[in-house]
Amino acid sequence: MSSKLVMKNISMEFPGVKALKNVDFSVNDGEVHALIGANGAGKSTLMKILGGVNKGFTGEIFIGDKKLEICNPHDAKKEGIVVVYQEVDTALISNLSVAENIMLDYIVNDQKNVFMDWKKIRKEAKEIIVKLGLDIDVTRLISSLTLSEKQMVLIGRAVFQKAKYLVLDEPTAPLSIEETNRLFKIINTLKESGVSIAFISHRLNEIFAICDRITILRDGELVGEYDLKDLTMSDVVEKMLGRKLENTLPKLDVEIGDVQVEVENFSDGKLVHDVNFNVRKGEIVGLSGLVGAGKTELCRLLFGADKLHSGRILLNGKDVTPSNSAQAVKNKMALVPEERRKDGILVNENIETNLTLTTLEKYCKVSFMNTKEIKQKAKDLIDIVGIKTPSEMQKVANLSGGNQQKVSIGKWILSDADIFIFDEPTKGVDVGSKSDIYLLIGELAKRGKSIIYASCEFSEILGITDRTYVMYDGMISKELETKNTTEEELLYYSTGGVENEK
Ligand SMILES: Nc1ncnc2c1ncn2[C@@H]1O[C@H](COP(=O)(O)OP(=O)(O)OP(=O)(O)O)[C@@H](O)[C@H]1O
Ligand SMILES: [Mg+2]
Repeated sequence: MSSKLVMKNISMEFPGVKALKNVDFSVNDGEVHALIGANGAGKSTLMKILGGVNKGFTGEIFIGDKKLEICNPHDAKKEGIVVVYQEVDTALISNLSVAENIMLDYIVNDQKNVFMDWKKIRKEAKEIIVKLGLDIDVTRLISSLTLSEKQMVLIGRAVFQKAKYLVLDEPTAPLSIEETNRLFKIINTLKESGVSIAFISHRLNEIFAICDRITILRDGELVGEYDLKDLTMSDVVEKMLGRKLENTLPKLDVEIGDVQVEVENFSDGKLVHDVNFNVRKGEIVGLSGLVGAGKTELCRLLFGADKLHSGRILLNGKDVTPSNSAQAVKNKMALVPEERRKDGILVNENIETNLTLTTLEKYCKVSFMNTKEIKQKAKDLIDIVGIKTPSEMQKVANLSGGNQQKVSIGKWILSDADIFIFDEPTKGVDVGSKSDIYLLIGELAKRGKSIIYASCEFSEILGITDRTYVMYDGMISKELETKNTTEEELLYYSTGGVENEK
């Protein structure tokens, strides 16, 4: 008997937003099924319905011939449906250990004894970590992990809950290439053992690498369901955006001036060691390297978000080394951080507040705020960055993942900072919006700003930067002129390659 999972005629509305309109979605036994669509297309909403988190939808869900009543997460779990949600931080409990988080389900639901068997919990969690090929002490608190480690813990928890139907909502966004490959191996093993998997990602190469079929959504509606072997990548992009995307990595022509920013001997006494580099006026300088190379740590350090051990930053020859983030803003620096929900935005505030926070001073006369002007600015920014929302008063927590990222970028666009630091800004952003973001960054460069662009995606580094510094093990291992380098060369220096041994 078939145990195909079928969602039929699903619709769901939020105030002011028709998130899903009569959508059909199905996953065959033992297949990996891609779900794709631009930011805000309705992918997570559909999967949250399946996981029993979203209530108030219409439509039907079946396994084979059996109609399901999924009203809460427990109902979903009973049917073997496990969902790894996109918001990594909300799915983990940060002040509990890795072991407790992995075994949460067992601790909450299955543990029958009055006393917890902590030894067993730690032992089983450890086995899971080892199976995932990770090296994390299971007694560590979640709050001390990097984003990619948190994502792997979450995957570990789900994979080993023995799902029959597994949903992975953008699991690879924060992962390194190595971790992604390991995840793909796990996915293939699960698939062979008959698990049905729904896989969401904005990276088309991943979809083509591991998925069998694909469902494409646009603006809450079904575009269609296809065999992936019948489509090319540009077919998929065209169907999801409703238009052809000519250039996925647009770069503006900008005149580059003199050195504007000099970073000298930067160290945090832990991972980042003796980093020296410079950025010219109007230049986009890449910080490339693998996940874990120290790029995020360096970005945070430059912005005064973490404690500096030694070093200084000069802006036009003047020392502007910040001792905290507030001072960094005063000293004309801006940071779009990697962990947007933790550091980049106030999720419980509305879009207007988030977008205007960094430039609020501009709209204050004596002690009065020009609320009309603030509102207009927020509206303009929503247009400029392309945030999909019914209103500027929408709470940021209610935006789709990619749209939250756009808020995190948008809040800096009109600031009068001179040094812009972007740490993996296009993570979780759809291909169409990615190219819009590259153009926005290009515009900043055109206005004479100095841009520091950290990314582990070499295609991005090659497409949009002028020069790049490769980081390896907390240090800069090589400086490269972008137009004279290749992906192979970036990879060589990112993995510890040494110049004269090449
Ligand atoms: N709790 C909510 N309240 C109000 N609106 C919501 C809520 N959850 C989602 N939405 C809206 O529903 C639409 C679909 O959002 P969804 O999160 O499903 O998009 P997505 O396809 O997963 O996008 P992304 O690629 O950015 O993750 C968006 O317009 C979003 O703002
Ligand atoms: Mg989503």
